[in-house]
Amino acid sequence: MTDQRRPLEPRRPLDPAALQAAIGSRWTVRHVGVTGSTNSDLRRSDTPDRTVLVAEQQTAGRGRLGRQWVAPAGSGLLFSAAVRVDGIPAARRAWIGALLGLAVIRGIHRVAALDAALKWPNDVLLDERKVAGLLAEGVGDLVVVGAGVNVTTTAAELPRPDACSLVSAGAADPDRAALLAAVLQAFDRLLQTWTAAGGEVLGTDLAVEYRGACRTLGRRVRVELPDGGELVGTAVDVAADGALVVDTDDGTRTSFTAADVVHLRTRG
Ligand code: BTN
Repeated sequence: MTDQRRPLEPRRPLDPAALQAAIGSRWTVRHVGVTGSTNSDLRRSDTPDRTVLVAEQQTAGRGRLGRQWVAPAGSGLLFSAAVRVDGIPAARRAWIGALLGLAVIRGIHRVAALDAALKWPNDVLLDERKVAGLLAEGVGDLVVVGAGVNVTTTAAELPRPDACSLVSAGAADPDRAALLAAVLQAFDRLLQTWTAAGGEVLGTDLAVEYRGACRTLGRRVRVELPDGGELVGTAVDVAADGALVVDTDDGTRTSFTAADVVHLRTRG
């Protein structure tokens, strides 16, 4: 059993040359010790397609809906990828976050032998605890999508009781470089399928994989809206634009594009 009271020592930084070699030529990887936010760094219209920025630590890491993403130096895999999406209709671009979520699931399975799942829109869960979060942002025809994966984060270091890390979930010292390489390889393949379909997901293998991975579908959920409102209902589907479709308890079917979802265990 892993001792979760203290971090695995030492938390060595990634080796940039080894990282690029592991990842191959489909992505151009930059590695920094500290930055504000890898998403903010890449969110410029002149960022080249397929640039990846990895940081050991962020001083202003950002999450969805204006939240922060906090992780001790070297404890996680913190990266952003810039992808040109010319030719993909704007209404379908939201799927790119889910595609990276699926890639993170595949990477975790390959490198840590754990079965992760998604919570809509694209939180990555291990046994209902959040192990990774994703943030996708557009600037013109570029989408910057970032992921924070908790890797060796101890229980004491995790920001919330419903969070976990690969190590706290039972993985033995996962290799962050191998994880990033596996995630980017999977992301590349998913992007190829998505691009070939013009960004359409419904009716494709991507929808099959997403529905199989997404634990929100079919669940009783509380939907927490950015304006502070909330609704309870059953999540029944995901729409072509990535919106969550919920049959709410007031008898209406409503789609949500920006919201937080809480999986409820029992009715109400
Ligand atoms: C969320 O769960 O709310 C999304 C968290 C996204 C965090 C990652 S860490 C790397 C990248 N840079 C950021 O500033 N945010 C994303």
